[in-house]
Formats: sequence, C-alpha cells, structure tokens
Amino acid sequence: MEMISLSGPLKGEISPPPDKSISHRAIMFAAIARGESTLRNLLRAADPMSTMDAFRRLGVRIEDREKEVIIHGAGLEGLREPVDVIDCGNSGTTIRLLAGILSGQPFLTVLTGDDSLRKRPMKRVVGPLKRMGATILGRDGDMFAPLAIRGGALQGIHHVSEVASAQVKSSILLAGLYADGETIVEEPHRSRDHTERMLPALGADLTVRGLKVHIRGGRELKPFEITVPGDFSSAAFFICAALMVPGSEILIRNTGINPTRTGLLEVLKMMGGDIEIVNQRDVSGEPVADLICRHSGRLRGVEVPHELVPSMIDEFPVLSVLATQAEGETVVREAGELRVKESDRIATTTRELRKMGADVEELPDGMIIKGPVKLKGGTVSSHDDHRLAMALAVAGLVAEGDTTIEGTSSVAISYPDFFSTLKTLTV
Ligand code: S3P
Repeated sequence: MEMISLSGPLKGEISPPPDKSISHRAIMFAAIARGESTLRNLLRAADPMSTMDAFRRLGVRIEDREKEVIIHGAGLEGLREPVDVIDCGNSGTTIRLLAGILSGQPFLTVLTGDDSLRKRPMKRVVGPLKRMGATILGRDGDMFAPLAIRGGALQGIHHVSEVASAQVKSSILLAGLYADGETIVEEPHRSRDHTERMLPALGADLTVRGLKVHIRGGRELKPFEITVPGDFSSAAFFICAALMVPGSEILIRNTGINPTRTGLLEVLKMMGGDIEIVNQRDVSGEPVADLICRHSGRLRGVEVPHELVPSMIDEFPVLSVLATQAEGETVVREAGELRVKESDRIATTTRELRKMGADVEELPDGMIIKGPVKLKGGTVSSHDDHRLAMALAVAGLVAEGDTTIEGTSSVAISYPDFFSTLKTLTV
C-alpha cells in the first residue's frame, strides 16, 4: 500500500529501469546460444527473474554478478529436463516464449504461473506450436496454463496471427529455430520487434518482409554482449506525470525509443504534449534517447489511431489517467487485447478511475474518457497489476487530497524503484 498526495511541480532527472522485453530475450537467447554471453544493465525485477530461474531449472549456468550477468549458453540442444514444474510467476513473456523453445526439446516440461497468468490465453501459442509438431496439453482444452510440453521434431509453418502480439510472434519464431524448413509468422500490425533485431545479430537466418517474419531453423546462435536500454513503458509514467502536473520539467535519460514501442509519443504529440527528444543514439541495436518532458497546459482529447494500438499496448492505463486531464474526449477502440493483460485493463482502469471521479465509459474493445475532471483522492486498487498501480500513483499526483493505492507490491514486476524514484522528483 502507498499513499500519494496532490503534488507540486516535478523537477529533476531520472533513468528508467532496463527494458523488460529486451531483458527477457537477452536471458533466453543467451541460454540457447553456445558459449558465454555477458548481459549488462539487465532488469532486476520479478518478471525477468522468472525467466532466469526457469533457465537455471533447465540446466543453464547463470552467474549473477553485481554489474553484469554471465550466461553459459547450453546451445540449441543443450537444455535438460527439469525435475519439477517451472513457475513463470506473473510473466506472459516467460511462459509464451519459453513454450516456443521447449517445443524443440525432446523432454517434458510443465509450465505454470500465478493466479493472473493462469487466466491468460495460451491457445494463441499452443495452437501453432502443436501444428509444428510439439505435444502440448493445457487446462480447459489448451486454453490456459499449466501447460505440459513435450517437444520433438518440428516442421516449419506459415502462421497468420489474428492478434498483433510480440509474444505470439516470438514464441513461434523461437520454435522455428528448431524446425525443418522455413517458418513464417504474419501479423495484422507490427508488434514490438526486439526478437527480429536480436536474433539475426546472433547468426539466426531471419528476415523481415513487411508484416511477415521468416526464419529457417538449424543454425546455432553465437554468444553475445548486450547493454539493455531503459524501458520506454516504465518511462511513460513519468512522461505523463510531467505533462499533467503544473510547473513540471524533467529529464528522462537513456530511454528506448524503438518505433514499435513509442506509439504513446505520437498520441501525446497529437494531444499537445511538450516532449523534446534529444541525444538520440544506438545502444546494442536499439534506438535510445533522452526525453525532456514539460507541463503541457492545454492537453486535448484525441481518438487514438488504431494502427498505433500495438505500439502502445502497455501504456493505456497511464494514457487513461492523462486523458482525464485533457479537454474533450479521448477515444480508445480496437484495443480488446487490454482485456487479457495482467488484469482486464479496460475493466480495472475504468473501475478505479471512476472511484476518483473520472468520466470513463467502458467499451467492449476500449474506452471513452471525458475531461478535464478534477480527480479526488480516496482508496483505489491495483488489482495486483503493476502498470495499473503506477498509473494510479500518477493520478494521485493531480487528485485533491490523498490517494491510497492498494496492491503496490506489484510494481516489483517491472519497476521495483518506482515509488522511491517518484519521491526524488516531487521533493
Ligand atoms: C511483450 C509483448 C506484449 C506486452 C508485454 C511484453 C513482449 O504482449 O504487452 O508487456 O515482451 O513480447 P503481447 O505480445 O501479448 O501483446
């Protein structure tokens, strides 16, 4: 539980924590590469720790030093059958990407997770992985974890995904590393492309052609060194906070600005947000910059362009908070995927913001938020969803009185230092 009070201007500098998606992938790809990889600035949070623990159980030696993590990669075929069930915690990326890798392993693994993860849809990966030749059983007709996976000889497939999902895409591409022939994954809009950036650099035969990604199996991955850039999705809470709180000006250093992740920046520009992107550079094959964010007095509500939804999928809780302070309507549609995140983010965000006095209409695939509204403090719940906990803290900064947020230990999933970082900007 944390309490947030109506805030004066946010001032100062921060660096967001390392990127969660890239951290997961760095651990996984290093574990199945052959030889020693060095990972710097890896995210020390519960989600990537679930991935690290999973690979230890699969027989990979991982040395966690203070400044770097050394992974002694076992090679594509070097993982070992775990002696017990693997718990993926709260992490969709861990369970779905791991399911792809395990589909190529000739042994049995059972994957499970916490209450939230066991409610999230798994058929979207189980279906195509079975078509490639893996044996997988899931609860309720393969819909949910626990998943029992016995991998084997795989065949390449052409999979047309109904959803733009980097987890689905990456899971199938990872199985494609083990498959005979070519595997193609096609998606309706481009989802985050960290897998496609990283795997070819490690020697995988992977090419991107429009919305299709092609991979050919059979090639060992080379070990690598990586420095993980800061996480745009974590920076997003402070970007929105600075735009909303009168008198604020903050510098957010070392933030990943991969265009498949920064749809929020486009939307904030349309809303009249004052954000300057400076010092653009490349870090380990990913674009990175520093962001100067200032209070933006006259924010306007917008209709979020549908094609931007996948590139800002994790940012809707905090965008909804900002929209309560913008003039007019902010309309979000074609974002039904929000219902199957760590919580049903359409329902939970609507319910909690209404408690603070916001005008939010729930739609089957999105929401309509009308502003500006003077929010009021009170007691709200994160529903154990890390991003909702942080979004509600941002709401608390502009709410009259005190806002008590229940379930804030969930920030350990992606941003363990969130509340202490926030305090450094508000003193
Ligand atoms: C992620 C992909 C997204 C995102 C999640 C991380 C990834 O999920 O919401 O936080 O690391 O690939 P989906 O693939 O389900 O959209």
